Amino acid sequence: MGTAIAANLTVIALLIASAAAYTNHTVGGDAGWFFDSATNTSAANYSSWAANKTFSLGDFLIFKTNSNQTVIQTYNETTYQSCNFDDASDNDTFQYGGGDENFGKALTVEVPLTIEGANYFFSSGDGGVQCQHGMAFEVKVAHGAGLPPSLNQPPPPPYIEPPGPDSAQPLPGTVIIAQPPGSGGFAIGANVRGGLCALFLLPLLLF
Ligand SMILES: *[C@@H]1O[C@H](CO)[C@@H](O)[C@H](O)[C@H]1NC(C)=O
Ligand SMILES: *[C@@H]1O[C@H](CO)[C@@H](O)[C@H](O)[C@H]1NC(C)=O
Ligand SMILES: *[C@@H]1O[C@H](CO)[C@@H](O)[C@H](O)[C@H]1NC(C)=O
Ligand SMILES: *[C@@H]1O[C@H](CO)[C@@H](O)[C@H](O)[C@H]1NC(C)=O
Ligand SMILES: *[C@@H]1O[C@H](CO)[C@@H](O)[C@H](O)[C@H]1NC(C)=O
Ligand SMILES: *[C@@H]1O[C@H](CO)[C@@H](O)[C@H](O)[C@H]1NC(C)=O
Ligand SMILES: *[C@@H]1O[C@H](CO)[C@@H](O)[C@H](O)[C@H]1NC(C)=O
Repeated sequence: MGTAIAANLTVIALLIASAAAYTNHTVGGDAGWFFDSATNTSAANYSSWAANKTFSLGDFLIFKTNSNQTVIQTYNETTYQSCNFDDASDNDTFQYGGGDENFGKALTVEVPLTIEGANYFFSSGDGGVQCQHGMAFEVKVAHGAGLPPSLNQPPPPPYIEPPGPDSAQPLPGTVIIAQPPGSGGFAIGANVRGGLCALFLLPLLLF
Protein backbone atom coordinates (compact mmCIF):
# COMPACT_ATOMS: atom_id res chain seq x y z
CA MET A 1 0.00 0.00 0.00
CA GLY A 2 2.68 2.45 1.05
CA THR A 3 4.74 1.46 -1.98
CA ALA A 4 1.80 2.11 -4.30
CA ILE A 5 1.30 5.59 -2.86
CA ALA A 6 5.01 6.32 -3.18
CA ALA A 7 4.94 5.13 -6.80
CA ASN A 8 1.96 7.36 -7.53
CA LEU A 9 3.72 10.32 -5.97
CA THR A 10 6.77 9.61 -8.11
CA VAL A 11 4.63 9.58 -11.26
CA ILE A 12 2.99 12.86 -10.26
CA ALA A 13 6.40 14.42 -9.54
CA LEU A 14 7.68 13.28 -12.95
CA LEU A 15 4.62 14.73 -14.69
CA ILE A 16 5.14 18.08 -12.96
CA ALA A 17 8.85 18.04 -13.78
CA SER A 18 8.26 17.30 -17.48
CA ALA A 19 5.56 19.98 -17.72
CA ALA A 20 7.96 22.49 -16.19
CA ALA A 21 10.83 21.49 -18.46
CA TYR A 22 9.67 23.63 -21.40
CA THR A 23 8.51 27.23 -21.43
CA ASN A 24 6.53 29.26 -23.95
CA HIS A 25 7.85 32.81 -24.05
CA THR A 26 5.50 35.49 -25.42
CA VAL A 27 7.85 37.83 -27.27
CA GLY A 28 7.68 41.33 -25.82
CA GLY A 29 5.26 40.20 -23.12
CA ASP A 30 1.90 41.99 -23.28
CA ALA A 31 3.25 44.43 -25.89
CA GLY A 32 3.60 41.63 -28.47
CA TRP A 33 5.60 41.88 -31.71
CA PHE A 34 4.55 45.17 -33.31
CA PHE A 35 6.05 48.10 -35.15
CA ASP A 36 4.58 51.56 -35.61
CA SER A 37 5.61 52.73 -39.08
CA ALA A 38 4.36 56.26 -38.39
CA THR A 39 6.95 56.78 -35.64
CA ASN A 40 9.53 54.10 -36.49
CA THR A 41 9.25 52.56 -33.04
CA SER A 42 8.87 48.99 -31.85
CA ALA A 43 6.24 48.16 -29.25
CA ALA A 44 8.90 46.88 -26.82
CA ASN A 45 12.65 46.81 -26.44
CA TYR A 46 13.06 43.19 -27.55
CA SER A 47 16.75 42.99 -26.69
CA SER A 48 16.08 43.92 -23.10
CA TRP A 49 12.98 41.66 -23.09
CA ALA A 50 15.28 38.75 -23.99
CA ALA A 51 18.17 39.83 -21.80
CA ASN A 52 17.20 38.33 -18.46
CA LYS A 53 15.40 35.23 -19.64
CA THR A 54 16.64 31.69 -19.93
CA PHE A 55 15.81 29.96 -23.20
CA SER A 56 16.21 26.20 -23.59
CA LEU A 57 15.79 23.58 -26.29
CA GLY A 58 12.13 22.70 -26.67
CA ASP A 59 10.89 26.13 -25.55
CA PHE A 60 8.67 28.08 -27.94
CA LEU A 61 8.76 31.77 -28.80
CA ILE A 62 5.20 32.96 -29.30
CA PHE A 63 4.93 36.05 -31.49
CA LYS A 64 1.60 37.84 -31.01
CA THR A 65 1.57 40.10 -34.02
CA ASN A 66 -0.18 40.94 -37.27
CA SER A 67 0.76 40.60 -40.92
CA ASN A 68 2.47 44.04 -40.97
CA GLN A 69 5.44 42.37 -39.30
CA THR A 70 7.28 39.21 -40.28
CA VAL A 71 9.13 36.68 -38.15
CA ILE A 72 12.49 35.66 -39.59
CA GLN A 73 14.61 33.18 -37.67
CA THR A 74 18.26 32.79 -38.58
CA TYR A 75 21.35 31.12 -37.18
CA ASN A 76 23.53 33.32 -39.37
CA GLU A 77 24.75 36.47 -37.65
CA THR A 78 25.59 38.16 -40.95
CA THR A 79 22.00 37.75 -42.13
CA TYR A 80 20.74 39.09 -38.79
CA GLN A 81 23.03 42.14 -38.85
CA SER A 82 22.03 42.97 -42.41
CA CYS A 83 18.26 42.95 -41.60
CA ASN A 84 17.82 41.22 -44.95
CA PHE A 85 17.44 37.59 -45.92
CA ASP A 86 17.37 37.89 -49.71
CA ASP A 87 20.78 36.20 -50.01
CA ALA A 88 20.33 33.90 -47.02
CA SER A 89 20.71 30.17 -47.31
CA ASP A 90 17.63 27.97 -47.02
CA ASN A 91 19.23 25.87 -44.33
CA ASP A 92 19.99 28.60 -41.78
CA THR A 93 17.15 31.10 -42.24
CA PHE A 94 13.40 30.57 -42.03
CA GLN A 95 10.38 32.79 -42.50
CA TYR A 96 7.40 32.03 -40.29
CA GLY A 97 4.45 33.81 -41.85
CA GLY A 98 3.73 37.50 -41.91
CA GLY A 99 4.45 39.61 -44.96
CA ASP A 100 0.90 38.94 -46.10
CA GLU A 101 -0.59 41.17 -48.78
CA ASN A 102 -3.42 41.97 -46.38
CA PHE A 103 -2.01 44.47 -43.90
CA GLY A 104 -2.90 44.29 -40.25
CA LYS A 105 -4.27 40.73 -40.18
CA ALA A 106 -3.92 39.26 -36.65
CA LEU A 107 -1.35 36.49 -36.46
CA THR A 108 0.21 34.25 -33.83
CA VAL A 109 3.50 32.69 -34.82
CA GLU A 110 4.94 29.85 -32.73
CA VAL A 111 8.61 29.10 -33.19
CA PRO A 112 10.19 26.10 -31.46
CA LEU A 113 13.79 26.48 -30.32
CA THR A 114 15.52 23.41 -31.70
CA ILE A 115 19.19 24.41 -32.01
CA GLU A 116 21.47 25.29 -29.11
CA GLY A 117 23.42 28.54 -29.07
CA ALA A 118 22.68 31.83 -30.79
CA ASN A 119 19.27 32.13 -32.46
CA TYR A 120 18.47 35.45 -34.14
CA PHE A 121 15.05 36.87 -34.89
CA PHE A 122 13.96 39.90 -36.86
CA SER A 123 11.12 41.37 -38.87
CA SER A 124 11.87 42.05 -42.52
CA GLY A 125 8.89 44.41 -42.76
CA ASP A 126 9.14 47.82 -44.46
CA GLY A 127 12.20 46.69 -46.43
CA GLY A 128 14.40 46.24 -43.35
CA VAL A 129 13.37 49.49 -41.63
CA GLN A 130 11.51 47.59 -38.89
CA CYS A 131 14.58 45.52 -38.11
CA GLN A 132 16.83 48.58 -38.13
CA HIS A 133 14.51 50.25 -35.62
CA GLY A 134 14.28 47.61 -32.93
CA MET A 135 12.40 44.66 -34.46
CA ALA A 136 15.36 42.33 -33.86
CA PHE A 137 16.81 40.35 -31.00
CA GLU A 138 19.08 37.46 -30.16
CA VAL A 139 18.49 34.60 -27.74
CA LYS A 140 21.06 32.16 -26.46
CA VAL A 141 19.48 28.71 -26.32
CA ALA A 142 20.74 26.44 -23.55
CA HIS A 143 20.53 22.65 -23.59
CA GLY A 144 18.10 22.49 -20.65
CA ALA A 145 16.21 19.18 -20.69
CA GLY A 146 17.05 18.62 -24.37
CA LEU A 147 14.56 18.40 -27.22
CA PRO A 148 11.28 16.65 -26.45
CA PRO A 149 10.48 13.72 -28.80
CA SER A 150 7.81 15.85 -30.52
CA LEU A 151 10.50 18.20 -31.86
CA ASN A 152 13.19 15.64 -32.51
CA GLN A 153 14.06 14.65 -36.03
CA PRO A 154 12.24 11.43 -36.86
CA PRO A 155 14.63 8.53 -37.55
CA PRO A 156 15.11 7.72 -41.25
CA PRO A 157 12.35 5.41 -42.49
CA PRO A 158 13.30 1.75 -42.88
CA TYR A 159 13.96 0.54 -46.40
CA ILE A 160 11.01 -1.42 -47.74
CA GLU A 161 11.31 -3.72 -50.74
CA PRO A 162 9.02 -2.36 -53.48
CA PRO A 163 6.08 -4.72 -54.14
CA GLY A 164 6.65 -7.23 -56.92
CA PRO A 165 4.50 -7.23 -60.09
CA ASP A 166 2.29 -10.05 -58.74
CA SER A 167 1.64 -8.43 -55.38
CA ALA A 168 -2.06 -7.64 -55.24
CA GLN A 169 -2.16 -5.91 -51.85
CA PRO A 170 -0.42 -2.69 -50.96
CA LEU A 171 2.16 -3.03 -48.17
CA PRO A 172 0.91 -2.41 -44.66
CA GLY A 173 0.77 1.34 -44.17
CA THR A 174 4.00 3.08 -43.30
CA VAL A 175 3.35 6.66 -42.37
CA ILE A 176 6.35 8.92 -42.68
CA ILE A 177 6.08 12.43 -41.41
CA ALA A 178 9.00 14.49 -42.62
CA GLN A 179 9.96 17.78 -41.01
CA PRO A 180 12.42 20.37 -42.27
CA PRO A 181 15.48 20.54 -40.00
CA GLY A 182 15.15 22.66 -36.92
CA SER A 183 11.46 23.32 -37.13
CA GLY A 184 8.13 22.28 -35.79
CA GLY A 185 6.94 21.59 -39.28
CA PHE A 186 5.72 25.00 -40.33
CA ALA A 187 8.91 26.81 -41.24
CA ILE A 188 9.42 27.55 -44.88
CA GLY A 189 12.58 28.23 -46.83
CA ALA A 190 14.07 31.69 -46.84
CA ASN A 191 13.34 32.25 -50.51
CA VAL A 192 9.64 31.63 -50.10
CA ARG A 193 7.77 34.77 -49.21
CA GLY A 194 4.29 35.41 -47.99
CA GLY A 195 1.65 33.61 -45.97
CA LEU A 196 -0.32 32.55 -49.03
CA CYS A 197 2.67 30.68 -50.41
CA ALA A 198 3.09 29.03 -47.04
CA LEU A 199 -0.47 27.79 -47.11
CA PHE A 200 0.04 26.15 -50.49
CA LEU A 201 3.44 24.74 -49.63
CA LEU A 202 2.47 23.32 -46.26
CA PRO A 203 1.02 20.09 -47.61
CA LEU A 204 4.11 19.61 -49.78
CA LEU A 205 6.40 19.98 -46.78
CA LEU A 206 4.33 17.64 -44.69
CA PHE A 207 4.11 14.84 -47.17
C1 LIG B 1 3.68 25.85 -26.05
O1 LIG B 1 3.28 26.10 -27.37
C2 LIG B 1 3.20 24.93 -28.16
C3 LIG B 1 2.89 25.35 -29.59
O2 LIG B 1 1.69 26.05 -29.64
C4 LIG B 1 2.15 24.00 -27.58
O3 LIG B 1 2.10 22.82 -28.34
C5 LIG B 1 2.49 23.69 -26.14
O4 LIG B 1 1.46 22.94 -25.56
C6 LIG B 1 2.69 24.95 -25.34
N1 LIG B 1 3.19 24.59 -24.03
C7 LIG B 1 2.80 25.21 -22.93
C8 LIG B 1 3.46 24.76 -21.66
O5 LIG B 1 1.95 26.10 -22.94
C1 LIG C 1 12.00 55.51 -40.57
O1 LIG C 1 13.38 55.23 -40.78
C2 LIG C 1 13.75 55.16 -42.15
C3 LIG C 1 15.23 54.85 -42.22
O2 LIG C 1 15.56 53.75 -41.44
C4 LIG C 1 13.46 56.47 -42.84
O3 LIG C 1 13.73 56.34 -44.23
C5 LIG C 1 11.98 56.82 -42.65
O4 LIG C 1 11.74 58.11 -43.20
C6 LIG C 1 11.64 56.83 -41.18
N1 LIG C 1 10.22 57.08 -41.01
C7 LIG C 1 9.76 57.90 -40.07
C8 LIG C 1 8.28 58.02 -39.98
O5 LIG C 1 10.48 58.50 -39.31
C1 LIG D 1 17.05 48.54 -25.47
O1 LIG D 1 17.61 48.24 -24.22
C2 LIG D 1 19.02 48.12 -24.25
C3 LIG D 1 19.45 47.69 -22.88
O2 LIG D 1 18.89 46.45 -22.55
C4 LIG D 1 19.64 49.44 -24.68
O3 LIG D 1 21.05 49.26 -24.78
C5 LIG D 1 19.08 49.85 -26.03
O4 LIG D 1 19.55 51.14 -26.36
C6 LIG D 1 17.57 49.87 -25.98
N1 LIG D 1 17.07 50.13 -27.30
C7 LIG D 1 16.22 51.10 -27.58
C8 LIG D 1 15.80 51.22 -29.00
O5 LIG D 1 15.78 51.84 -26.71
C1 LIG E 1 18.50 42.24 -15.87
O1 LIG E 1 19.12 41.87 -14.65
C2 LIG E 1 20.06 42.82 -14.19
C3 LIG E 1 20.74 42.27 -12.94
O2 LIG E 1 20.05 41.18 -12.43
C4 LIG E 1 19.35 44.14 -13.92
O3 LIG E 1 20.29 45.11 -13.50
C5 LIG E 1 18.66 44.62 -15.18
O4 LIG E 1 17.90 45.78 -14.91
C6 LIG E 1 17.73 43.55 -15.71
N1 LIG E 1 17.20 43.98 -16.99
C7 LIG E 1 15.94 43.85 -17.32
C8 LIG E 1 15.57 44.33 -18.69
O5 LIG E 1 15.11 43.36 -16.58
C1 LIG F 1 25.59 33.75 -43.74
O1 LIG F 1 24.78 34.28 -44.74
C2 LIG F 1 25.50 35.04 -45.70
C3 LIG F 1 24.49 35.65 -46.64
O2 LIG F 1 23.56 36.41 -45.91
C4 LIG F 1 26.49 34.13 -46.42
O3 LIG F 1 27.24 34.88 -47.31
C5 LIG F 1 27.39 33.46 -45.40
O4 LIG F 1 28.20 32.51 -46.05
C6 LIG F 1 26.58 32.76 -44.34
N1 LIG F 1 27.46 32.27 -43.28
C7 LIG F 1 27.50 30.99 -42.91
C8 LIG F 1 28.42 30.66 -41.78
O5 LIG F 1 26.80 30.13 -43.45
C1 LIG G 1 24.11 25.10 -44.74
O1 LIG G 1 24.69 24.54 -45.90
C2 LIG G 1 26.06 24.90 -46.09
C3 LIG G 1 26.53 24.27 -47.39
O2 LIG G 1 25.61 24.54 -48.39
C4 LIG G 1 26.88 24.37 -44.93
O3 LIG G 1 28.21 24.79 -45.06
C5 LIG G 1 26.32 24.94 -43.62
O4 LIG G 1 27.00 24.37 -42.51
C6 LIG G 1 24.84 24.62 -43.50
N1 LIG G 1 24.34 25.30 -42.32
C7 LIG G 1 23.52 24.72 -41.44
C8 LIG G 1 23.04 25.57 -40.30
O5 LIG G 1 23.12 23.57 -41.56
C1 LIG H 1 -0.44 47.94 -41.37
O1 LIG H 1 0.27 48.60 -42.39
C2 LIG H 1 -0.58 49.36 -43.26
C3 LIG H 1 0.27 49.88 -44.41
O2 LIG H 1 1.46 50.42 -43.96
C4 LIG H 1 -1.19 50.51 -42.42
O3 LIG H 1 -2.04 51.28 -43.23
C5 LIG H 1 -1.99 49.90 -41.27
O4 LIG H 1 -2.44 50.94 -40.42
C6 LIG H 1 -1.15 48.95 -40.46
N1 LIG H 1 -2.01 48.25 -39.53
C7 LIG H 1 -1.70 48.02 -38.28
C8 LIG H 1 -2.71 47.30 -37.45
O5 LIG H 1 -0.62 48.36 -37.79
